[in-house]
Amino acid sequence: MLTLGINAAFHDPAACLVSDGDVVAAAEEERFTKVKHGKRPVPFSTWELPFHAIEFCLRSADVTLGEIDHVAYSFDPSQLLGNRLRDPTVEIPLDLSVYGDSSEWVSPWDPLFLSSIVNAPRQLVDGPPLHLRSRFRGASWTGPYVWDFVDHHLAHAASAFLASPFDDAAVIALDGRGERATTTYWHGHATSLELVGRVDLPHSLGLLYEEVTDYLGFLRSSDEYKVMALASYGRPRYANAFRDMIRVGDGGRYTIADPCLETWFGPRRERGGPLEQRYLDIARSLQLVLEETVIAIARAVQRETGSRRACLAGGVALNCVMNARLRDARIFDDIWVQPAAGDAGTALGAALWVDAQQRPGERCYRMEHAFLGPGFTDDEIEEFLRWSKLAYRRLDDVAGEAAELLARDKVIGWFQGRMEFGPRALGARSILASPIRAEMQARLNDIKDREDFRPVAPVVLEEDAGEWFEGASVAPFMLFVYDVVPDKADRIPAVRHVDGTARVQTIRRDQQPMYYDLLEAFKQRTGVPVLINTSFNTRGEPIVCTPRDAVESFWTSPLDALVIGSFLLEKPMSLDATRRDA
Ligand SMILES: [Fe+2]
Repeated sequence: MLTLGINAAFHDPAACLVSDGDVVAAAEEERFTKVKHGKRPVPFSTWELPFHAIEFCLRSADVTLGEIDHVAYSFDPSQLLGNRLRDPTVEIPLDLSVYGDSSEWVSPWDPLFLSSIVNAPRQLVDGPPLHLRSRFRGASWTGPYVWDFVDHHLAHAASAFLASPFDDAAVIALDGRGERATTTYWHGHATSLELVGRVDLPHSLGLLYEEVTDYLGFLRSSDEYKVMALASYGRPRYANAFRDMIRVGDGGRYTIADPCLETWFGPRRERGGPLEQRYLDIARSLQLVLEETVIAIARAVQRETGSRRACLAGGVALNCVMNARLRDARIFDDIWVQPAAGDAGTALGAALWVDAQQRPGERCYRMEHAFLGPGFTDDEIEEFLRWSKLAYRRLDDVAGEAAELLARDKVIGWFQGRMEFGPRALGARSILASPIRAEMQARLNDIKDREDFRPVAPVVLEEDAGEWFEGASVAPFMLFVYDVVPDKADRIPAVRHVDGTARVQTIRRDQQPMYYDLLEAFKQRTGVPVLINTSFNTRGEPIVCTPRDAVESFWTSPLDALVIGSFLLEKPMSLDATRRDA
């Protein structure tokens, strides 16, 4: 049975293909269109399904839409429209005036929003809009599939539980909002998910974090991770203001009073304005109270479900500091977080859920890695390199030669195998560097045109993880922070954040052999089984997807080298420097 999962409701449009319980392919639309998070400026906004990601998923399985059994869509408009949805005469007017200046959907009742969702099945039948037609010439968009609207939070919960290693778990989905729910609690068992609690709009931890992100001069529903990084520099002197606002009641259900940020904390920060200590303290206070609230919720959900394991999804679950505090609270013996915890992951969750309903009791998928996107063979890569007329050479020992460059403090673009699904680069589309010199953090932030305060994250051989990071064992998705072991701190200063932590990725050979071999080779040369791993993109750009994207990004940024498949590209200046170093 083939199930196509689609997310297109709010942001991060994506598609996923599930075949008899196994995930064949998954990708975000932004990687193909280069429109980050799928958010187009409003005056030019056209709403469309993620046709590029859909086409990639179909191509991966070598099937047409006509061969798909179910389309699982991660938003259920019937919760807002009730029986009117079943009335074929219902018309949702397109009224741009309700949309305002914001690039966000203002309300679930926006006619434009609703019309988009309600018309989604029709758009798939009609095929891509005119401006995309030539891209998909020859593709068939018709088929006798069944269209399933899946509750947004159920899709988040399924993306965590049905991909996790657990057969029984408490499941917490935390995001800005779904149809109405903003936080939901579930008990997952075998292939079922039982709802045990929910919090509805307007109470939303995700929307509160977005609101403060906006107040601090960053982009809402995009830059929340910057606020998390900033929090490490502040003191929690405003924590009581946030504590007074949030009340956690029975079963983990909470309320949030209207935030009056300017009244409490003074004028908001202009975008790009100076980062006064006040702003750092607000970020720290918010982060602390978020952690306290989620721990209180988790205790309640553990009591309700009796489960010793937990699964997390929803955009808030990308907060790796919060995840680490929850881990350290030891409410659960084990926690698994969906790597595509944001809305893109609901494409995967909706597809896994619909598949599970058709084949109850059968569960074969465990998400061991996130390499579910497009991949390119050496032949395909070389064909592009030849066409580009750029100088390149084939490497006999890719891992060894790349490790040699890294050991000489070169910063390299690393393009291997299938692209990651989810916001983190995990060794398929990464920028890599040595963590041994402290100045590498600033250099990488400079290369990527990022703010100075942003940390860079380490990848470590799984078998060495505990020796370098306190308590780290298996963390393949960079979703938890760990303290750097004190007597190793001087060996890897570039990846140690100001609070002594690092957002760790562990790697096992079966997850990505070439990436693992690279770390081994680096360890042989330096004695350090750790590299810096940051996403292969520059500011404002989505992570690279194709060889062309990688080469473009390499030539337009100060990267020293690009290792792409079995090939190496270097810049002339870099070659000179290498000769000097030698
Ligand atoms: Fe969501």
